[in-house]
Amino acid sequence: MTISGKARLAGVLGWPVGHSKSPLLHNFWFERHGLDGVYVPLPVAPEDLAPVMRALPRMGFLGCNVTLPHKAAMLDLVDAVDPLAAAIGAVNTVLVGDAGSLTGYNTDGLGFLAHLDGCAPDWRAATRRVVLLGAGGAARALAFTFLAAGIHELALVNRTPERAAALVARLGDQNDAAVLALPWAERHRALEGADLLVNTTSLGMVGQPALDLDLAALPATAIVADIVYTPLSTPLLSEARRRGHRTVDGLGMLLHQAVPGFTHWGGTRPVVDEATRRLMLAPPVAEPKAG
Ligand code: ATR
Repeated sequence: MTISGKARLAGVLGWPVGHSKSPLLHNFWFERHGLDGVYVPLPVAPEDLAPVMRALPRMGFLGCNVTLPHKAAMLDLVDAVDPLAAAIGAVNTVLVGDAGSLTGYNTDGLGFLAHLDGCAPDWRAATRRVVLLGAGGAARALAFTFLAAGIHELALVNRTPERAAALVARLGDQNDAAVLALPWAERHRALEGADLLVNTTSLGMVGQPALDLDLAALPATAIVADIVYTPLSTPLLSEARRRGHRTVDGLGMLLHQAVPGFTHWGGTRPVVDEATRRLMLAPPVAEPKAG
């Protein structure tokens, strides 16, 4: 890869940021598209976030992605916030405009829908009732995005009922959809009549217990999705597949949420394909031992 003095600049802001796979992905796309550009990790402590954001356009950056713990704080540090990001209460992508202005977006939910569109192109017409497990940041992004996409009913099931109730309150009555919070103990029964089930909890992730969920009540036509992607085939997805459900893995959301940012700083829309998926699944390169 050649990086000239005119290279397009972008990066990911986080604290810590060492675990981020975004540099791997965006630099793969820069190289694949033959672009003179570079995407760097930007480890920035919370107390330094405001001056860093003011400096970013002045240093020639075209934008950045934002990861933990900065997603909420970024709302107050950009010049304009896209309405969906404002509703979700978190920014994961900042684009620098021509005059150096900063606009914040949240592309997590749209990334999930883009992947869903690819895996199950008919889902929009076929989905009335969505069951979301979890009420954290990912659930918030998906809930707002699903409602914006026009689903009719959204059931939120979370272990801590207060968090699900808070999300329902946040979702408000700004749309015609029925939105309800259900207790965690009701999760098996909540699947009745669902067209789409999405796990946004960390259950099923490497090192975490599997999600204890009986799929018996889930209609045979329902699609089952997980946002966990380590492992790619979670116990939930394996069981759903065994029962004949169409399944959607979590890797697609990770890849597709990056598309709007790269389209801006790369100047071309990147393709999410099998090679991109393989890249993200490859084990990290081992650090050389000292001495
Ligand atoms: P993210 O921002 O990635 O969504 P998060 O805010 O930590 O992450 O949310 C994690 C979700 O997984 C939460 O809904 C959490 O439930 P609580 O709100 O009750 O904490 C859920 N979760 C994590 N471990 C769980 C477990 N053992 N059983 C049930 N839900 C669990």
